[in-house]
Amino acid sequence: MRQSGGPHIQSFAKLNLYLQVLNKRKDNYHDLSTLFARISLADTLTFKERQDGLIKIKCASPDVPDNETNLCYRAAALLKQEYKLCRGIEIGLKKLIPVGAGLGGGSSNAASVLMGLNKFWNLNLPATRLEKLGARLGSDVPFFIHNAKFALGRGRGDKIKKLGSLDKLKLWFVLVYPNFKVSTPLIYQKFDSFSGLTMPRGDVKMLISELSKKGKAAGAGCFFNSLEAVTVSLYPAVNQVKKALFGMGLDKVMMSGSGPAVFGLCDSGRQARELKNQLLKKHKFWQAFAVSTV
Ligand code: C5P
Repeated sequence: MRQSGGPHIQSFAKLNLYLQVLNKRKDNYHDLSTLFARISLADTLTFKERQDGLIKIKCASPDVPDNETNLCYRAAALLKQEYKLCRGIEIGLKKLIPVGAGLGGGSSNAASVLMGLNKFWNLNLPATRLEKLGARLGSDVPFFIHNAKFALGRGRGDKIKKLGSLDKLKLWFVLVYPNFKVSTPLIYQKFDSFSGLTMPRGDVKMLISELSKKGKAAGAGCFFNSLEAVTVSLYPAVNQVKKALFGMGLDKVMMSGSGPAVFGLCDSGRQARELKNQLLKKHKFWQAFAVSTV
């Protein structure tokens, strides 16, 4: 944590390089097999003590609520409630991760607040406890608490196994957000009655094993996302993004999470940056980023 007027924390986004929906559960969630990759696109959080015991969120982004529905607020409130704390906090949030994009921005923010306040408030809670609390806020939160570059997610995505064998692997992507939000509950609901389901060519273990042994080119053939066809059926613009990336010569292109953000695997950071610049010139309404795994 960097100290300058209170701690600054980077809150990274994720991509799902593999996301197979296995079955619907009794609690209405879905069991998944997913491969998470943490990427360099990040929001910044700052903490400032408040003497009045209240939680306040300061965020300039119009897409982010500043009330008690905000995941940063909920994470701080959960800690206060669980540990009967009277402390107040002002959380500053500088948002770069698009909201409602399939990039896990809200979950990442919640994880960062749990981890950050654990230090700021000297709670000394173990990561296993933070993970359990995080799972109550969102299925993707435990991944971010794990502090892993790559991890396997099971259960509803909340049972995390860190993949240390991939620690040295650095992948570069060009990432496109076509500037509209997608509701994750809606996509899972449509998934249950969707008739155009696609099946993976290989399983997630194959992808991990290929990535760890041979690097990106071999493993990337098995990128897979069960939700992509569902989101595309509701929002054909996702296919437009995919086509644009294929048209630039990329062949490993996929939607992340429930979308609509789409990523294309690049050979280098230079290629990712060049493609990002080309995309920004051609498609004025899209946001484009060059990102690497971190
Ligand atoms: O856990 P999270 O708040 O991110 O989930 C948002 C919604 O997405 C859930 O309420 C549920 O409808 C759906 N979901 C699901 N199965 C998962 C994760 C999310 O059905 N594994």
